[in-house]
Amino acid sequence: MKRVLVLHGPNLNLLGTREPDVYGAVSLADVDRRVREHGRRRGVTVECRQSNVEGQLVTWLQAAEREGFTGVVFNPGAFTHYSIALRDAVAAIRVPVIEVHLSNIHGREEFRRHSVIAAVSRGQISGFGPDSYLLGVDALLATNGSSAASRSGASRAVRAGHRRRTAGRRSPLK
Ligand code: DQA
Repeated sequence: MKRVLVLHGPNLNLLGTREPDVYGAVSLADVDRRVREHGRRRGVTVECRQSNVEGQLVTWLQAAEREGFTGVVFNPGAFTHYSIALRDAVAAIRVPVIEVHLSNIHGREEFRRHSVIAAVSRGQISGFGPDSYLLGVDALLATNGSSAASRSGASRAVRAGHRRRTAGRRSPLK
């Protein structure tokens, strides 16, 4: 049985009442219920956690593999745009991470259009409301456990070469 960890970052505990014109009227508890149900239909156990604290999110990311999770669906909230600590945590772990956002960050204010997490995530899903999380679970199922980003065939080839050279030992690079 696959186990997926859903992590919500700061202010997402306020979903439902927080800027409903941007983030919708669905509460975090309802989002979590929907993503857990979606996982069940796909044979995946989903556990959801939320924190307003950057270090707590780092700790959960670091522990994900040890806790038996096969992937992480991660909405870093505002940390998306500037947290190098979270970026480094995502880069440091072997379980694949899918970055998700309720809103389409690329269609919003300039400062939201850049994600420091995206380059080290397996991919990004942005703009589908609560369905972004469901799509995140589906994206994880499609990765077959690979955490390597696939921004281009070239980067994949470099990574594959690196893996061949370092086969049998844990790669320090992602
Ligand atoms: C968000 C987008 C971020 O820019 C914002 O700070 C959030 C929510 C989203 O899900 O759309 O808190 O991650």
